[in-house]
Amino acid sequence: MKRACRRIIPALSLSFLALSASVYETEAQVQVLVNGLNPQQQISRHIYGHFSEHLGRCIYDGFWVGDDMKVPKKDRIRLDIVDALKKINIPNLRWPGGCFADEYHWRDGIGPRSQRPKMVNTNWGGVTEDNSFGTHEFLELCNLLNCEPYVAGNVGSGTVEEMSKWIEYLNFDGQSPMTELRKQNGRSTPWKVSFWGVGNESWGCGGEMTPAYYSDQYRRYSSFAKNYPGAPLKKIASGANVDDYNWTETCMRNIGPRNMWGITLHHYTLSGGWYDKGPATGFDEDRYFGAMKSCQKMETLINRHGAIMDKYDPEKRVALVVDEWGIWTNVEPGTNPGFLYQQNSMRDAIIAANTLNIFNNHSDRVRMACLAQTINVLQALILTEKEKMLLTPTYHVFDLYKVHHDAMLLPVQFKSPEYTRGKDNIEAISISASKDSTGKVHITLANIDPNTKNDVALQLAGFKFSQVEGRIITSASYADVNTFDKPDKIKPVAFKGASVAGSTVNVQLPPLSVVVLELK
Ligand code: AHR
Repeated sequence: MKRACRRIIPALSLSFLALSASVYETEAQVQVLVNGLNPQQQISRHIYGHFSEHLGRCIYDGFWVGDDMKVPKKDRIRLDIVDALKKINIPNLRWPGGCFADEYHWRDGIGPRSQRPKMVNTNWGGVTEDNSFGTHEFLELCNLLNCEPYVAGNVGSGTVEEMSKWIEYLNFDGQSPMTELRKQNGRSTPWKVSFWGVGNESWGCGGEMTPAYYSDQYRRYSSFAKNYPGAPLKKIASGANVDDYNWTETCMRNIGPRNMWGITLHHYTLSGGWYDKGPATGFDEDRYFGAMKSCQKMETLINRHGAIMDKYDPEKRVALVVDEWGIWTNVEPGTNPGFLYQQNSMRDAIIAANTLNIFNNHSDRVRMACLAQTINVLQALILTEKEKMLLTPTYHVFDLYKVHHDAMLLPVQFKSPEYTRGKDNIEAISISASKDSTGKVHITLANIDPNTKNDVALQLAGFKFSQVEGRIITSASYADVNTFDKPDKIKPVAFKGASVAGSTVNVQLPPLSVVVLELK
């Protein structure tokens, strides 16, 4: 008999738990209870955010291209990319880094482009940065994308004054030296940026600080990061690397929940380890399994960092901001190792689906996240080759999951079958559900097991419906990819494997698949 892992998503009502007892022991079919009785928790759309660093071909030759590139553009911003990202309702974009943020000096990126000083991008390939993409260009990009900017300020090599003046430049509407400068550069009104990162990875490339030292620095920098009229900042502390729980504990204690809007967590999926990242294509099942196990660690990290945060912040005022996540593999052969260019496979789609379900189910604490990174870097949504662009399997998952943006979480309860490899096993199924403002219920499911179909019975409590419609992303192999020759090999298609029987929806979930269902 197949073993199963009991899985209870928090915040279930007692009556719902009682209802569940009778169905728990069935093995053949995965029994799932979806609690639509009294939704309490909104899934912030900002969980579906993205990250764009001055790294490799994300900004330059990604969003921002040369005048000679024959694609639709506004200034030098690629509009085919803007259109694709608008289709998935991108809610926020993090910039300028990453490690780059802590060596970025914003004044180098304003004013006439021909006069902007150049610099060396020491973190990413040692290339020359010409600063042609700076503050005005980034905020114009966000304007075109209709998304909120999330700016990471420089704590590692910048000054308190530098950060403070940047905020004045961005957000103040009155008369001041910075507003005069902004006007000279062609922008009369402030942008009113709200999401503000106080450093990045301050334990590493952001300054190699201890948590005690960083938390003092945070207090100092954030004292001078002012809230201008009509432009309150959501200040975000640079948080832990993976399972550095001491970092979270020290920051929560020393900074305090009233002095920050959020604190970050970074966790990258690795199929082996940092020194054994493995290829992005042509990998075997051990690599697939290893990556999925690493991906599922996100839930433990959220639970454990969340428990520490609960000690100092039981009201959950502070958001856990997972502003760097996704799979990190070896670069594509022949490409610059400092550019982190990797292909994106069906495995990446499963990683995205599983992670986003985890975020949804923990949306009481996880209220913002950014996938690393949007174009041509790490787990990208979009890959480009000169004028050509393709949408990756990961992009299509964000497309399916956009139904959850700002919807109310419906807790799910089920016992996942296991996906076993050798002596190791992980959960084979990942699910989250929500109800949107029009009353429609959406359920997203991933079958992580590449070998076994899973039959799932979704039992809905507190919601009447008579129809189900679905879309699916699947492929024959976890290593399948979209290429510039076959850009549509992996894309969502109609899903016919779900049917309604009374208050139950029966779903035949193919191996290696991501499904969204809409109940009406
Ligand atoms: O996303 C790539 C890099 O990973 C970022 O610059 C840094 O913050 C992290 O280590």
